[in-house]
Order: sequence, then C-alpha cells, then structure tokens
Amino acid sequence: MNEQQKTQQQVMKPTTKEHLERLQQLHNDATYEPPNLKKARKRLKKDVDIHYDFSIPEDMRLIGENQTYYIRTYGCQMNEHDTEVMAGLLSLMGYTEASEMKEADVILLNTCAIRENAENKVFGELGHLKPIKKENPDVIIGICGCMSQEEGVVHRIMQKHPFVDMIFGTHNIHRLPSLLKEAMFQKAMVVEVWSKEGDIIENLPKQRKGKLKAWVNIMYGCDKFCTYCIVPYTRGKERSRLPEDIIEEVKQLARDGYKEVTLLGQNVNAYGKDLPFDYRLGHLLDELREIDIPRIRFTTSHPRDFDDHLIDVLAKGGNLLDHIHLPVQSGSTDILRVMARRHTREDYLDLVKKIKAKLPDVTLTTDIIVGFPNETDEQFEDTLSLVETVGFEHAFTFIYSPREGTPAARWKDETPEDVKKERLQRLNTLVNKQSKKAMERYIGEVVDVLIEGESRKNPDVLAGYTKRNKLVNLKAPKSLIGEIVPVRITHAKTWSLYGELVTE
Ligand code: 5AD
Ligand code: SF4
Repeated sequence: MNEQQKTQQQVMKPTTKEHLERLQQLHNDATYEPPNLKKARKRLKKDVDIHYDFSIPEDMRLIGENQTYYIRTYGCQMNEHDTEVMAGLLSLMGYTEASEMKEADVILLNTCAIRENAENKVFGELGHLKPIKKENPDVIIGICGCMSQEEGVVHRIMQKHPFVDMIFGTHNIHRLPSLLKEAMFQKAMVVEVWSKEGDIIENLPKQRKGKLKAWVNIMYGCDKFCTYCIVPYTRGKERSRLPEDIIEEVKQLARDGYKEVTLLGQNVNAYGKDLPFDYRLGHLLDELREIDIPRIRFTTSHPRDFDDHLIDVLAKGGNLLDHIHLPVQSGSTDILRVMARRHTREDYLDLVKKIKAKLPDVTLTTDIIVGFPNETDEQFEDTLSLVETVGFEHAFTFIYSPREGTPAARWKDETPEDVKKERLQRLNTLVNKQSKKAMERYIGEVVDVLIEGESRKNPDVLAGYTKRNKLVNLKAPKSLIGEIVPVRITHAKTWSLYGELVTE
C-alpha cells in the first residue's frame, strides 16, 4: 500500500453503515451501557476490589519512544488529576509531552459532561481536530472523561466524527495502554466504556503538573443522585480509598517537597461510608494533620454528610486550612427538595452556624444553580438572601443545564431563558460585591502566601495563594518561588490582592 492509499484508508475509516453496525455491536457488548437511573440506583454494595499490581503490558513499554502526546483537559479537579494519571501512563510507554496539540502523535480530550456548554466546547475542538487528522493520519485521537460515559455522545462521535480513533470512559483509564495499541492496529473506532464502575487501582503512575501543589483522590464516584446531576452516572458509585494508601501518598508528597495537597472527591464528606470500619473524613484529616506538609485542603463537600466530628477536627487548625467549599445550590427549601439535595435552607444555615462557631475565621465558598425547572422569583430571592446571610466570599454560579438521563431533564420548564440570565446576573453582582468586601478586609493584614511563580499577566510580579485561597500578587525575588512567605496586603480587587513582602 502506498502512502496515499494508507492515508485514505485511515481518514475514510468506517462508513455510516459500519458505524451503525458497530453501535449495535456495542449494545450487545458487556463493556458498554448507557446511563440508567433505575439501574444505577440499584448498584450493588459489594466490596470494591483494590489492586496494587498494575503494570504496563510488556509490548507497550517502548511504543511511545520518540513520540509525543497532548492532553486537553476540561472540567473539574478530578479530571485534572485523571489527566496526570494518563500522562503518567503515557510517559511509562516512552511518550513525552508535546508543547502543541497539532504536533502530538497521541491527542486526548479529557471531557466534562456537567453542563451543555462544557460539551459544546469539546464538539468545537473536535472540529479543529479533523484537519489535523487529515494532515497526519497516523495521529491517534482519543476521547475520554465524563462525556464518554454518555450514550448520546458516543453515538454522535461515531456518526459525525468518524476520524476519532478511540473512546474510553472514566472507569477505563488504566486500560489506556491496551486501548492505544488496539487503536494503532485496528481500523474500527475503539470504544470501551464500562457503565459499571471498576475497582480501585492503587499504583497507577502520575505525572503531576506542579511541584508545589498536588491532588490526592480520597474517593471516587457519588451516590447522592441530585436530580440535575450527571456525575453519579459518569463517575459511578462511591468508593473510598483505604486510609493507609491515602496517608502514604500524602507522606510521599511531603518527602518530595510538596507544600500543599488537595484531597479530592465528588462528595468528600461521604468518605469512609463504604469502608468496613468506622472511619470518616474527620478521622482521615486527624491523621493527615500529623504529616509534615504545610497545607491540606479538601473538595467538594456536601452539607448532608458534614458531621460534628469533622468540624472539631478542622478546628484543630495547623495544616488543615479553614476554607470550606460547601455547595448549597439554592436558598429555597422547595427547590432543594426537587433537587433531591436532602437538606433544607435551615439545615444549611444551622450547619454554617456550627462551623462558624468552631472556626470563626473560616472562608466559605459555594456553588449555586439558578433557573432550576420552574424556579419562581420568590425562590430565587431566597437564594439571594441566603448568599447574604452566609456571607460567601466566592461562588461558582451556573444556569441550570438539562442533562440527558437525569430526572430533572424530563421536567417541563416554563421559565424563559432571559429570566434565567437576568437572575444569574443579579446573583453574580451580589457575589462579586461580597467577594470584594471580603478582599478589602485583608488590607493592612499580614498573610502567609505560598508563592507559586510569576503572575500570568506580568512576569515581574510573583503570585501565590493564602491559606484561605486568595490570590496575592507581589514584587519579590524569584528565589522565593516555592516558599511560604509573610505578605502585608496593600490593596484589593474583586478577585485578587496586592501586597509587599514582610522582611523584618
Ligand atoms: N446544570 C447546571 N449546573 C450544574 N451543576 C451540576 N449539574 C449541573 C447542571 N445540570 C453544578 C453544581 C455543582 C457544580 C460542580 O456544577 O452547582 O456543584
Ligand atoms: Fe452531583 Fe455533587 Fe449532587 Fe453528587 S452531590 S449528584 S456530584 S451535585
């Protein structure tokens, strides 16, 4: 076969008919199943197997020599961390990271399914990838992450973007080496998505993005099934890592010189519920605070599982930072009920009161959805008043986006789009006002800043974060990058602080 024929064969990959046959095949295949609420709710509570024996298949160990990869990551910290694992796997196969997507031999899009606009970005990127594949048919293009767990997305990619070489799900990451091999040698698109969550694989390699701050998974999945949310389907049931594995990972990060870890989970307060002994997030933090690492954060919390013991442990302070990201979603009890959040407005306010009583300097931040199906003006006003009462210093705010397969997506919604947009704007104005006010309170104070590097806007300025996660810019010698230094705050903007190094 000459080069041109080879090119044509690869670019033309399967026809629509072949795709439809392949779709049918997938439906008959145990490795693929679309999200299904009823089935997901009946997840077996069977023990999760934990594996410590992962290794790269022998025939894949050198396959990436002199080749490069590029991973574009969308969405949350969990995805960022999954990308670090995939980068680790690829580097064990000999690949190095390409500085630009179009130069890479393997391109992966690690996708996010949380809202429609996140998905649109990925489909937009697929449009850009088509000419790259045409120019270089040998490049392997893979779609992974949360969107791959959605049946509709897999169909759409197979039909409209046949140049994609592989699709794999969030439970199949450790299979990347084998899937890559299949994609290299097989004509049809390789699709491997397990609807049922996999086991926990402990010894996957990680190529971490930074040398100062590290992500550490403490659990996977979510069993809360909020009615708007796709995560319980894309990430599977709650599975906690064993405390000793987490503690060892954090100890190793401390030995490697890391200054900060962020413990990750979709609902970290459910940590330990599935363990066969009485051990929860509070117990874990109580052990982790003994480790000689300056800063420990955790995200994301759910108000429902935030217990008193955890608050008591957080009050011990030390390396446990008093910033809590506590998504509330709405300030209306009626909306919270239809969201199936399992708490009322009053429950949330009581919890905040308890937290503030034990942690008087705590910074609280949150996530809020506006325009949930048929949210009334009054219910929205309840959200505004809750934001003021709690005094959130920051909030991630979203317009509700229907997600196929979730209960809320089936509900008729009478609220016009422009009303939702206006609500979002009003909410953002309030949140920004509170954010600025919180920032201004720091003026004149001396705060500890972990200097991460040059500011993105000005290389003569260094930037870093306080314990309460406030961005601080300052002029200081570059030798301080990686250090935690005292900084006197001189002025404040809505999103960042400016200060001077305290030298005496
Ligand atoms: N529409 C809008 N926002 C959503 N979130 C989750 N699902 C949706 C959805 N369908 C928001 C929630 C969650 C954050 C990560 O994303 O606020 O806390
Ligand atoms: Fe989604 Fe969070 Fe609710 Fe889980 S707790 S279903 S991740 S919003």
